[in-house]
Amino acid sequence: MPRDITIAPSILASDFSKLGQEVRDVIDAGADWIHLDVMDGHFVPNITFGPDVIAKLRPHTDSVFDTHLMIEPVDPYLEAFAKAGSDIITVHAEATTHLDRTLQAIRGLGKKAGVSLNPSTPESVLQYVMDRLDLILVMTVNPGFGGQKFIHSQIEKTRRIRDMIGDRPIDLEIDGGVTPETAPLVAAAGANVLVAGSAVFKGGTTEAYAANISAIRSAAAQVT
Ligand code: DX5
Ligand code: ZN
Repeated sequence: MPRDITIAPSILASDFSKLGQEVRDVIDAGADWIHLDVMDGHFVPNITFGPDVIAKLRPHTDSVFDTHLMIEPVDPYLEAFAKAGSDIITVHAEATTHLDRTLQAIRGLGKKAGVSLNPSTPESVLQYVMDRLDLILVMTVNPGFGGQKFIHSQIEKTRRIRDMIGDRPIDLEIDGGVTPETAPLVAAAGANVLVAGSAVFKGGTTEAYAANISAIRSAAAQVT
């Protein structure tokens, strides 16, 4: 059965001096969700932005805010990211000792709960939390920076996770190095949400964003 593809541009690759405008432009250009990469300089070797920036972006669009927390610890900050207007809150399995508790906390805040796995983390960590999940994010680069090279070993992992999901209503998202060349590989493996930073924001205009998004979407659609 064909699977609809959701495109979630990461604003990490946008112009941070005009974030509100960038969010509006990329939605006008056909993006489905906005992917928000939160980094703490501790779990990952880079620092981006926190809940106050997300709260200021919230009035700029009604589209889904897909918040990817690359922070450790994560539990003390969940409420702030929920209040800031996140619709989905994704945590790293590697960044929380009590993953089951963290996922319950996210749903307890009325938000969709996601788990992200680093490239070296096996999919078996998902086995006993499947019923607490709304989204699984497979990192196809080591988190911390945009513009890195896609790690091909994660295609097989994506396929295995799609099998684990079965009939459950769980989104399977890919993040890192997504381009019109790599999108079909992960879509064929069962991914239905594609995050893309540099491949969407290159060109710097709404017209360029629209062409970039449609190139990724149509490449993925050929195999779904
Ligand atoms: C990496 C981030 C990604 C990143 C993707 O840690 O989670 O969302 O922005 O950037 P590209 O698409 O350029 O690989
Ligand atoms: Zn991300």
